[in-house]
Amino acid sequence: MNLVYEKLKDCVRVVQKKVKFKPEVALVLGSGLGDYASEMKIEQTLSYSEIEGFPISTVPGHQGRFLFGTVRGVPVVIMQGRVHYYEGYEMSDVVLPIRLMGMLGARVLILTNAAGGINKSMSPGDLMMITDHISSFIPNPLTGSNLEELGPRFPDMSEIYDKNLRNLILKASEDTGVPIRQGVYVQSRGPAYETPSEIKMYGRLGIDAAGMSTVCEAIAANHMGMKVCGISCITNMAAGITDQRLNHKEVQETADRVSHDFQTLVTETIELIGGC
Ligand code: 6GU
Repeated sequence: MNLVYEKLKDCVRVVQKKVKFKPEVALVLGSGLGDYASEMKIEQTLSYSEIEGFPISTVPGHQGRFLFGTVRGVPVVIMQGRVHYYEGYEMSDVVLPIRLMGMLGARVLILTNAAGGINKSMSPGDLMMITDHISSFIPNPLTGSNLEELGPRFPDMSEIYDKNLRNLILKASEDTGVPIRQGVYVQSRGPAYETPSEIKMYGRLGIDAAGMSTVCEAIAANHMGMKVCGISCITNMAAGITDQRLNHKEVQETADRVSHDFQTLVTETIELIGGC
């Protein structure tokens, strides 16, 4: 059998032995957005280190555990901390946790991240609903033997960010008064931020924000039939958009400042998903 699939099944087996909870919604918390746990009635936590073979993050500000519980009565699994391609993991490892949450039963995936703003009409602190992405600058996570058990060899990606979920996010924004922008996201390989010329190129390609995650996860989730949506927190403007230098501290500070609005929006979105 395929080694990637075998490892995934081993991880699923370990988790299911320890956790009897069946999530409907999976939520991945990005940089600085990790304190969302306060919105949840936690039933169980599971550290990634308790799952043999599971990829573990090395980035400061990223915790490494699953939270199982309910948000407004909806069964949710939250990833507090994700691994990134730039940490040196294979793409198949980077998306393993997403596939695992899908195999635990989650039908819906909400991806969140910190991103640099490229569209000049955006400002640090804005939240941006992802309408589409560009994956051309990273290796595709579906490279290698196709996992037939999960999905097709050549999956359609015409609507990765599900239209119904996007409408629910817009409704959540209206209901809560938390403003949301919309745009196209690109995943860079990282860990270095882009140069001004790279950002100029991205802008000309119609990209509104750049980050180092999310796209590969959205592809893997879409491949296995999960419904996907995504929200970026614009933590800073990308290189050359302003003449300010970039640093991870600013990313975390902006994420902290926006975290209350972010939590409000995500919680309302989850409640609306639960009602569908
Ligand atoms: Cl400017 N670029 C990338 N790739 N990721 C980011 C970022 C920029 N700002 C926050 N995360």
